[in-house]
Amino acid sequence: MKEERWHDVGDVAELSKKPLQQILVGRTRIALSCVGGSFGAIHSACNHVNGPLGQGSLDGDYIVCPWHNWKFHRISGEGEPGFEADRVPRFEFKVEGDRLLIREMPTTDRQKLAHEPHPLDRDTRREPGALRVLGISTTVMDNNNPRYSTSEALLESALEHARMNHSLETRMIKLRELSFRACEGYYSKSAQACTWPCSISQMEPTDGMHAVYENLVFWADVVLIATPIRWGAASSLYFKMAERLNTVQNQITLKNRVMLKNKVAGFIVTGGQDNIQAVAGQMMLFFGELGMYFPQFPFIAHSRGWTAEDMERNVEMVKHNKKLHDDARALLDRCLDMAQRLQSGPENLRTIRSGLNNAQGE
Ligand code: FES
Repeated sequence: MKEERWHDVGDVAELSKKPLQQILVGRTRIALSCVGGSFGAIHSACNHVNGPLGQGSLDGDYIVCPWHNWKFHRISGEGEPGFEADRVPRFEFKVEGDRLLIREMPTTDRQKLAHEPHPLDRDTRREPGALRVLGISTTVMDNNNPRYSTSEALLESALEHARMNHSLETRMIKLRELSFRACEGYYSKSAQACTWPCSISQMEPTDGMHAVYENLVFWADVVLIATPIRWGAASSLYFKMAERLNTVQNQITLKNRVMLKNKVAGFIVTGGQDNIQAVAGQMMLFFGELGMYFPQFPFIAHSRGWTAEDMERNVEMVKHNKKLHDDARALLDRCLDMAQRLQSGPENLRTIRSGLNNAQGE
């Protein structure tokens, strides 16, 4: 039988001043709570992905994890009602004189409820088959009263070209048709708190970003992203999506896991006024950081410049300018060419990312 070791963790009056705190008992982090003079001591590592319970907050007798809000009873360690079987270890304690002592060995084991794996929590290996082309339109409009979008029209021309002239399967995602929450900045609490699948996807079964993750990460070989220029930048929906893709980039930071393998991105940027280089530059930087490849000349764009405020002429020009639509088709051809090369010789490609934070990678 193991020796029963107790650790003196401090002065009772001092410790009872804080309703919740994280302390060390030996090498174990403990969430020590004190409510109305009554102590509780449970393991500080949350059952979800090890969030620090001792740095959370109290909701009655439940400790709320500071990362994604799971709750555990501050004395028993059991999950909130309905999830009692999901429990973290609890520790015995005693008061001797004015000192609080906590027993080193926990009284209960950690017990994790078997959760169905999230559908996105799977291997990213490519399914066999011909090249697959995904279009993502980021323009914002009222779905019930649609208008002509120059960026989306060029994207549609490229996808039609893929179907009609290359006999390839295509899919189109219009971000405005998806309902999804903005990134809530879990990464800002801790890199470990930004999970794959995204914590919001885990909490929200109807998360609209599921379509983006599923098609971008698992399905597509070529992804064309189209945006209008809004105040010199890509659309607000583009950035809303990009922030939610932090979950993909963070896998590289945390685990050296590049989820987008042998995938090619091309960009379509249109606007009544200019700033094309900055918009395309930002998009290339972002998708480059996700691990995507680019063809030679990875974007096409159209703008009539700062003084052109007559938007209806801009729309007419894109509608009837065959060259612009040919340019969109040529962009698709370049992306396909690049994707073909990647498919035929991926073993020749190595992912070497200088400056990679590889502390927890291989
Ligand atoms: S809720 Fe605790 S780590 Fe996610």
